[in-house]
Parts: sequence; C-alpha cells; structure tokens
Amino acid sequence: MIYFDNSATTQALPEVVDTYDKVSKSIWGNPSSLHNFGEQAFNLLEQSRKQIADLLHVHADEIYFTSGGTEGDNWVVKGTAIQKREYGKHLITTAVEHPAIHNSMEQLKQLGYEVTYLPVDDEGRISIDDLKKAIRPDTTLVSIMAVNNEIGTIQPIEEAAELLKKYPKIHFHIDAVQGIGKGIQEKIFNERVDFVTISGHKFHAPRGIGFIYGRRGRRIAQLMNGGGQEKNQRSGTENLPAVAAMAKALRLLLEKEPKANETEHQIKQLISDHISKFDKITIFSKNTDQFAPHILCFAIKGVRGETIVHAFEKYGIYISTTSACSSKKNVASSTLTAMHVPEDVSTSAVRISLGDQNTLDEAKEFIKVFDQLYEEFDKLS
Ligand SMILES: Cc1ncc(COP(=O)(O)O)c(C=O)c1O
Repeated sequence: MIYFDNSATTQALPEVVDTYDKVSKSIWGNPSSLHNFGEQAFNLLEQSRKQIADLLHVHADEIYFTSGGTEGDNWVVKGTAIQKREYGKHLITTAVEHPAIHNSMEQLKQLGYEVTYLPVDDEGRISIDDLKKAIRPDTTLVSIMAVNNEIGTIQPIEEAAELLKKYPKIHFHIDAVQGIGKGIQEKIFNERVDFVTISGHKFHAPRGIGFIYGRRGRRIAQLMNGGGQEKNQRSGTENLPAVAAMAKALRLLLEKEPKANETEHQIKQLISDHISKFDKITIFSKNTDQFAPHILCFAIKGVRGETIVHAFEKYGIYISTTSACSSKKNVASSTLTAMHVPEDVSTSAVRISLGDQNTLDEAKEFIKVFDQLYEEFDKLS
C-alpha cells in the first residue's frame, strides 16, 4: 500500500508503541499518588515534559498535556474568551481554520462574542494589512494556523507576531497541528507567540494525546475542571504511556525532519510537475517555501473528489478528499471555498499528504496509476 494521507493521521511507530507498551505495563501508577509507585509515574511525566520542552527550546512549565489538537484549540480559544471577557469580547481568526477553531468561534458568537474571520488570497493566505485593520481595543485573541491542513499554505505568522508586538495584551495562538516537523519551528515558537496547539497522532504518536504550549505569565481559563492536574489548568488523570510515547515520537520527528522534508518536497515536486501537464488538472499547492512540503491538493475537473479517492484506493493508494473531517460530509473544502474556487472545482479536489515514511519510488508508482486513471476520468467527464 502507498499511504499518502499523513495529514489525516500517521501510523504509530513500532518503537513509539514499544514505549507505550512498556510504560503501560511497568509504570502504571497515578502520578498524583503519594507513594513511591506514584512518584515514579510523576517523575516520568515530568521527564517527558522536559524532553518535549527541550526539543522545542521552551520551558517545561510551558507544556500542558491534552488529548490532542481539537482539545488544544478549544482550550485556547474558549479559555482566552472566558479569561479575558472583562477586557473584551472580540476574537480574530482566519477563514481557513480547522473546525476545532472555527466551530469554537461560532459557539462563542452564540454567547455574545464577536469574531472576525480574515479573508485569504488565491493561495489561501491572509494579509497582515487585513489583520492590522481587524484589531480593536476589545480584541483578546488572534488565532492563526501555521500550515493549512487542506492545501498546505504557510501563514505569515512571523509578520503577524511582529505586528502583535504593538498589542502585548492580545493572546496570540498558533494551531501548529500540521506545522510541526515541517521546518518552521522557529516561526511557530517565536517570542511573541503565546499559545501553540500540537497533536501527537500527526507525527507517529498514539491517538488521543497532544499538548499546548502556553507562555509563562499568560493565563487562560480551565475547561477541564477536576482534580487539579497539569498545575491545576487541565484536570484529568494523565495519560502517561501516551505522553512518554509522544515525547519519543517528537524526538524522532525532529531527528528525521531535514531529510524527511527534503524527500517530501521532491515527491511533491515530481507529482505536481507531472500532473500539471494534463488540462483538466488544477493544482492549489505551490512548490514554494510559502507552502509546507507535505501537502499537495489538486482537482480533476468534472470528477468528484470521492470518486478519485476510491479509484486510487483500488490500486492500494490512499489519498483523501481535502480533509479527513470534511470527507464524509459531502461538502466543498472550506479553504478552497474561502479562496473563491468555484464549487464544481472544489468538489473535485483531493489531497495527497506525505510523511517521513514516503519514498520517491512511491511517487513514481502514483504517477503510473494516475496516468491510467486520468484516461478513465477523461472519458467519464
Ligand atoms: C490544523 C488542524 N488543527 C486541529 C486538528 C485536530 O487535531 P486532532 O485530530 O488531534 O484532534 C487537525 C486535525 O486534522 C488539524 O489538521
């Protein structure tokens, strides 16, 4: 099989599962327990936190474990809205965010908050000028994704950070679920960024684990109330095996990062150069450094996205319609819609998303199958 759906999820690596397994079997005490069995678990929890923090050049007390990207996004958006409600009820985000951000914002609108969705250009990118114009005295949060999950656009987060230096009270949040390990950590963990969301299963850790980075001194309200874990900010008995496994997965990700990004870039280039020769193809992800190396989104005019996905599946090639969340809902990609791509084209879009396990041989195999299928699609449309 050729797995080109790494933005949906990745396979947990055997060595990562091994850590999960060992910790589950041997260090299964509750980190909050007073006895030494609990202390052993607590020590491993803190050791994992420190390992993650060191890898990202931040402080260990700035890492808060969560159940994944959706929780992290919900927590920062709603946690900021609640925490800062006396100062203002205006939030800014982009028109191309993941539903974890978008739907959190929509829920807050029902509670009386105001939300500005920044428009995007034909590459899916916001403009700093629009951000500047959107900022108001009552703005409490700016939330921008690092890398778009549908077409791979890298947002101008450094420029946004520069602008936001003039507004030190506003929380600046980055959804970096698709951005981690893609060569842009320095932009993401930049000195003006206050919160970052990360999800483990996008880089070979198990499902249901992630973390947020929260800058020292910045406070958000808790959403998970209970026993006071995570410095009383996120209650719930810690998922220690998954935390330890995620710390290992992050180390491996960053070790492989330069080489993996290079290969991903070559695969993307090879496939896009090839498919761009066909007249029914529209490619949305460019091969510039303004796009992440691992996402290639394109449409075949006149053929529905799900038809394309299932056609490739018959050859053991796994791709997706533009995002895993929208794929079963039969709706056009929200990113392409925000880019004003006509619906008959956006519903014909599919996404290839690469990971560090993919090879150039797989790309060549993909191209062979593509040529065969294109002939069939051509007749069909
Ligand atoms: C940009 C982005 N944010 C958030 C999420 C949600 O992450 P999780 O699946 O860990 O809940 C995803 C998942 O695809 C994503 O791509």
